[in-house]
Amino acid sequence: MKVLITRRIFPEALLQLEKHGIDYEMHLGPPLEKQELIAKVKGAEGLISLLSDRIDRQVLEAGSKLKIVANVAVGYDNIDLQAATERGIMVTNTPDVLTEATADLAFGLLLAAARRIVEGDQIMRQGRFRGWELDFLLGTDVHHKTLGIVGLGRIGGAVARRACGFSMHVLYHNRSCKPRLERELNAEFVEFEELLNQSDFVSIHLPLTPETYHLFSTEEFKTMKPTAFLINAARGPIVDEEALVQALKAKEIAGAALDVFEHEPEVHPELLKLNNVVLTPHIGSAARETRIRMALMAVENMIAALSGQRPPNLVNPA
Ligand code: NAP
Ligand code: GLV
Repeated sequence: MKVLITRRIFPEALLQLEKHGIDYEMHLGPPLEKQELIAKVKGAEGLISLLSDRIDRQVLEAGSKLKIVANVAVGYDNIDLQAATERGIMVTNTPDVLTEATADLAFGLLLAAARRIVEGDQIMRQGRFRGWELDFLLGTDVHHKTLGIVGLGRIGGAVARRACGFSMHVLYHNRSCKPRLERELNAEFVEFEELLNQSDFVSIHLPLTPETYHLFSTEEFKTMKPTAFLINAARGPIVDEEALVQALKAKEIAGAALDVFEHEPEVHPELLKLNNVVLTPHIGSAARETRIRMALMAVENMIAALSGQRPPNLVNPA
């Protein structure tokens, strides 16, 4: 076995490996426990992993023949990048191909939270719709409101483009300014605190790093408007989930829409009880065409690395 694939991937991607004469073992069934992964990775030259696989130092050490870890995701916070780099193992991700799909989902979450779409669906299914009323199930307008994007990169930029179509005013915060996007989208760079202070919707599009871990906690929610909504389709641990629950209960913010969770697949039980929260199971990129492109991209990276070339989406060139 040359390549270990930790979970089921699409036949289109497997076909590419076969065409290049690359042997693989694809694990089927429940996710591999750490010890199983350690046992299986021994002897593999390549590893195709999902974002739910924790590829830590121990796993990388067990994979003494590994040349590449090809993650089927743009985020690679599940991989110990430093340990991989120290061992000369290439790490790749799948940028761009999932940008639009993830932005669609993030904007869908924003609309669902603002206009109470999920609550409305529940009312219909429970037979609780008694007829049109002027003040029934009132949400909040989206158009002409202010959207604060934290992390105006590929996905944040695509969300900003959607916001323009809704006549929203876009604020953003990054470590660096994006003059081209500012011109194109009329987006305005502001400091983090000002973004929290001014925005009607705050949408997170950051990678998870030591700097962004719990970037949103008690103080940040207090700084947001009591009428504001938080949207997170980036990574769960960027938000302190306990602090979010407390902020929602204390009505420090109006609501939240979350695709990602601090301890996936678990969800904070209090979030499940709140009506002003919309929850989806980490489906940002889950459109069939997009997921197939992601799998193909991971395999392309794998094929390049195993044939001695530099893979196109290398994240640790060092
Ligand atoms: P990207 O293009 O690299 O954008 C990330 C942005 O965050 C950059 O503009 C970066 O700008 C900014 N940033 C990074 N660290 C920061 C910090 N400490 N403070 C402020 N800004 C910071 O990445 P992307 O392709 O848009 O993806 C973003 C993340 O979305 C991924 O890492 C992944 O975790 C998540 N994601 C989730 C789903 C899902 O299914 N829900 C799907 C795809 C991606 P500066 O460098 O200028 O700061
Ligand atoms: C999904 O969450 C990704 O990082 O691709």
